[in-house]
Amino acid sequence: MDSIVVRGNGPLSGQIPIAGAKNACLALMPATLLSDEPLTLTNAPRLSDIRTMTELLASLGAEVTALQDGKVLATSCHGEINPVADYDIVRKMRASNLVLGPLLARLGHAVVSLPGGCAIGARPMDIHVDALSALGAEIELKDGYLHAEAKGGLKGAVHEMRFASVGATENFLMAASLAKGTSVLKNAAREPEIVDLAKCLRAMGAQIEGDGTSEIVIEGVDRLHGATHPVVADRIELGTYMLAPAICGGEVECLGGRIDLIESFCEKLDAAGVSVEQTHTGVKVSRKNGRIHAVDVVTEPFPGFPTDLQAQMMALLCTAEGTSVLEEKIFENRFMHAPELMRMGANIEVHGGHATVHGVEKLKGAPVMATDLRASVSLILAGLAAEGETVVSRVYHLDRGYERVEEKLKGVGAHIERVKAS
Ligand code: UD1
Repeated sequence: MDSIVVRGNGPLSGQIPIAGAKNACLALMPATLLSDEPLTLTNAPRLSDIRTMTELLASLGAEVTALQDGKVLATSCHGEINPVADYDIVRKMRASNLVLGPLLARLGHAVVSLPGGCAIGARPMDIHVDALSALGAEIELKDGYLHAEAKGGLKGAVHEMRFASVGATENFLMAASLAKGTSVLKNAAREPEIVDLAKCLRAMGAQIEGDGTSEIVIEGVDRLHGATHPVVADRIELGTYMLAPAICGGEVECLGGRIDLIESFCEKLDAAGVSVEQTHTGVKVSRKNGRIHAVDVVTEPFPGFPTDLQAQMMALLCTAEGTSVLEEKIFENRFMHAPELMRMGANIEVHGGHATVHGVEKLKGAPVMATDLRASVSLILAGLAAEGETVVSRVYHLDRGYERVEEKLKGVGAHIERVKAS
């Protein structure tokens, strides 16, 4: 298995290009199942999760061709469709559950394995099941698979989710786009990736209003057609790279970044002593004078502080002046990076959903292990701020969500190398 070696160094400077959003792209790709005409996605990120979704869609009978070195995905689904999403692929990634809504809408039935993905909590599927059941699907769990059937097709309905689940909102949007009649989703998730999916579905002929708010109205149509859609910028990759100059000092511009995608995160950076500025080309970040200040963080659904930036923010706060409290409200068991950061000299206490970080002057390089996608990049960020060498092992997690991480960081002067497993 590959590992990444980071040596702590001084100020960073330069530009880092931000890719299309992994989480948006993983919801957009299954939309190809909704139409027999081609769907082309531009600004796609080049990641192993995207290859997993390609593999899953191929197993269902869709074609996904990566063009322009993977930046463009040409998808189509005009032949026979297999309604079974097999455990062998689905277990690799939780976002595989996003084929359930489209398969149901197009075929009237689907059999989808319960998903896997990062080990950050139980992550059940009940909100998806309730949302699709509201549209008239009958769903049963048998032998680890969800068996869903909508006899006579899906029918528009008003449904309120018990929690604003991102994935369940996406499944509902795709399914309701081809249902008969009007659907209203209350307590819908408001993440930018939902807005991006709605934009793409509208380009395919869907009638959707209210995306980006907690009530989305969908007028079902008989068929969707082909479209070309640019994937929105990855706000999590953006936030991650914004933390690099915050941790090391210097000034970095994240090209293609948009502050409006992560305002709550930018507010916390400002309070911690990091200056953030929207430019014509991206987001410019530099550390204000002196040490980082401690700040408290609570993760919440959008527009709150994103859970996917909690681990990286913790890396910053490890060397802040004072004590910060991070509260994780989206996932249980999402502090697995804390013990690894402690190996590097961080002073952290974890009690249930709270982590208290007492800032230390300096971190020290150490061998550490990546436990999930965002945890792994937090260890790289911490390594950039540490004295000596940090070796992050199990970096396959990283490749699921960050394209060319070492190249991008090297480009702004970081000392980072990938060591290939022999
Ligand atoms: C998406 C993102 C993930 C991000 C998360 C929260 C993708 C591919 N992944 O994941 O990176 O961390 O949003 O912003 O877009 N839950 C249930 N029952 C369900 C569904 C979810 O209890 O049926 C719970 C989950 O266990 C979790 C919480 O709800 O505790 C949030 O999950 P959800 O918003 O659905 O996240 P994902 O769509 O899986």
